[in-house]
Amino acid sequence: NMWCVVPAGGAGTRLWPLSRESYPKFLLDLVGQGRTLLQSTWDRLLPLSGARQMIIVTGDAHVDGVLDQLPDLPDSNVLAEPSPKESMAAIGLAAAVLLKRDPEAVLGSFAADHIISGRDAFESAVREAVAVARSGYLVTIGIAPSHPSTGFGYIKLGSPLNVQKAPNARIVTEFKEKPDARTASAYLATGNYRWNGGMFVVKAKTLLDLLKASVPELHEGLMKIADAWDVGGQRAKALHDIWPTLPKIAIDHAVAEPAAKAGKVAVIPATFGWDDVGDFSSLADLIPAEKGEARILGDQSLVLTESQAGGLIVPAAGRTVACLGVDDVVVVDTPDALLITTRARSQDVKKIVARCKKQF
Ligand code: GDD
Ligand code: MG
Repeated sequence: NMWCVVPAGGAGTRLWPLSRESYPKFLLDLVGQGRTLLQSTWDRLLPLSGARQMIIVTGDAHVDGVLDQLPDLPDSNVLAEPSPKESMAAIGLAAAVLLKRDPEAVLGSFAADHIISGRDAFESAVREAVAVARSGYLVTIGIAPSHPSTGFGYIKLGSPLNVQKAPNARIVTEFKEKPDARTASAYLATGNYRWNGGMFVVKAKTLLDLLKASVPELHEGLMKIADAWDVGGQRAKALHDIWPTLPKIAIDHAVAEPAAKAGKVAVIPATFGWDDVGDFSSLADLIPAEKGEARILGDQSLVLTESQAGGLIVPAAGRTVACLGVDDVVVVDTPDALLITTRARSQDVKKIVARCKKQF
C-alpha cells in the first residue's frame, strides 16, 4: 500500500474571517457537508492507504484539533511542526521519516482542504500515479483549467508515457507555479496545459533525491531531523535546533519546477471534480443559487436581499444580514469580524488579513 501524506498548514487567509490562523480552513465544514475538509480528505484517502499509513503534518497548535477530528488516526502518525515552513518542509519531513522505515515507500501528498467529487475516478487516477511513481517519476494530477487563474501551478502536457497500469500517464514538459495573468491566458489558449491539483505521488527516495539536487540545505536539515525522529529524547532537540533554520519554500518551486526541466515529472489527467475552495468566489461557485440571486452559506432565514445581488453572504454571527442595491458583494459576518468585499477582489482578502494580523 501507498502512504498518504496530508500537509495541513496553510492558514487559508483568503477565507478570513471564516478561516483563522487559530482555526484554519481544513478544520472547517465549509460547504455544510457534515464533515470538515480534513475529514473528507481522510474519507477519500482511506481506501488507498488505510489508517495506519496515513500521515498528517501540521503545526504544533493544530495537533489536538486534527486528532479530535480523526479518531482512527494513530497519534504517532501526526508529525508536528514547530513553525510553518511551507509545503516542501512538511512533505519532505514525512518523506524523510518514511524512508527510514521503508526504502521503497511510495507516498502521495494530498492537500487537506480540497473538495473532490467522483471517488472512483479519483482512486483510479491515484493508482495510475502510483504505478508511474514506482518507475522514478514525480507524478502530479492535472486538472482541466476553467479560467486563467493566477493561483495555481500550470503543467504542460507532453507525450504519453509507456508505463504498465497507467494508460493515461503523460510526461510533463514544463511546470510553472502561479504564472502572471498574461502567461496564464497564453497557456490556456494553447489547450496544452493543466492546473496542478496540488497532489504529488512519488517514492520517498525520489522526492528526497530531487530535493537534494535543488535545495540541498533543506534536504540536509530534514534528513538530520529524520535521523533523530524515532530515537528516544532526540526528536525534540533536533526539531528545536534545526527546524528554525530550514528554508521556507513550496514543493512546487523547490522540486516540481526543476524536476520538470529534467524530464522527471509525469501527470495523470484528472477526470474527477476538483475545487480548491481557495477564496470566497470559488466557495460561492459551490453553492447552488437561482440565477442572479445571492448565494447564502448558512442560515437562509437570516439573509434579506433583493434578487440582483449575485454575490455570497455568510451570516455566521447569528444575526440578520440585509443587502440592498449591491451586486456581486461578499459579506461574511462572524461574531468578532465582518468582511465586506466583492467576488472580483476575493483573491486579495489575504492582503487585508496581513494588515490586521496583529489583532487576529
Ligand atoms: N504542514 C504544513 N505546513 N502544511 C502546509 C504548509 C506548512 O507550513 N504550507 C502549506 N501547507 C499545505 C496546505 O495546507 C495545503 O494542503 C498544501 O500544503 C498546499 O499549500 P497551499 O498553501 O494551499 O498551496 P497553494 O494553494 O498556494 O498552491 C498549491 O496548490 C494548488 C492547488 O490547490 C500548489 O501545489 C499549486 O501548484 C496548485 O495548483
Ligand atoms: Mg491551496
